[in-house]
Amino acid sequence: MDGANTANVAPVLILLGPPGAGKGTQARMLEEKFGLVQLSTGDLLRAAVAAGTDAGKAAKAVMEAGELVSDQIVIDILRDRLGDADCAKGVILDGFPRTTVQAEALDELLSESGQKINAAISLEVDDAAMVTRISGRYTCGSCGEGYHDEFKQPAKDGVCDKCGGTEMKRRADDNAETVESRLVAYHAQTAPLIAYYDGKGSLQKIDAMGSIDDIAGGLSAIVVKATA
Ligand code: AP5
Repeated sequence: MDGANTANVAPVLILLGPPGAGKGTQARMLEEKFGLVQLSTGDLLRAAVAAGTDAGKAAKAVMEAGELVSDQIVIDILRDRLGDADCAKGVILDGFPRTTVQAEALDELLSESGQKINAAISLEVDDAAMVTRISGRYTCGSCGEGYHDEFKQPAKDGVCDKCGGTEMKRRADDNAETVESRLVAYHAQTAPLIAYYDGKGSLQKIDAMGSIDDIAGGLSAIVVKATA
């Protein structure tokens, strides 16, 4: 594979897929299983909004409208985070890149550190199911673990399985109208990256319409092979 790393270079995996495809859910599972670091640009942007930074102020309304934040803001945030010491273990990029400009910036960033992409994995789903997935989603306010009203409930109602937290949150952009805009943005600006990574020989596809555990099994097999 074009993107294969040598054994002592930290792996870089990309999860591609529309809103609700399960990128965050699966990235957290892979993080635990393989000791990699999940880097979600959505989470980084929400943290910037909450902290009231300049980037956060610029991103807030754009995110609430379901559109893409400017490439420069996202690339700057990602570059800063990639420089943190924990990322030396290897990373799973969740929600980045989302445009060709971001993909090219990532290639450049990685080449500066002698890294390459092990696999860009496209989670293949039906748009129609994504509104249901997103409208039922909530997360633990303490540790960020994700849940779903129907598909993934904590063992004890209202109590996080991971950390015991009891404050559950729903995202401001998780409503049917915004999800439509996010799907439009995905198909117009992000879906072309499937061909981009196919052309580089690093694309893998997985059917992401099954159960969370079945998808996790298939993804793990891809990761083992791509990082061998
Ligand atoms: P971001 O936070 O990245 O949101 P997203 O891409 O819209 O993806 P989601 O987090 O909604 O879905 P997911 O695929 O992670 O699904 P999840 O695992 O949670 O981005 C938000 C916004 O930030 C963007 O709209 C944009 O404005 C901005 N942004 C972020 N990155 C950017 C970038 N690079 N450039 C520009 N702007 C950027 O699953 C969803 C639900 O379904 C959960 O409840 C889960 O439990 C459930 N579920 C998961 N898998 C399954 C399954 N197999 N079966 C049943 N239920 C399932």
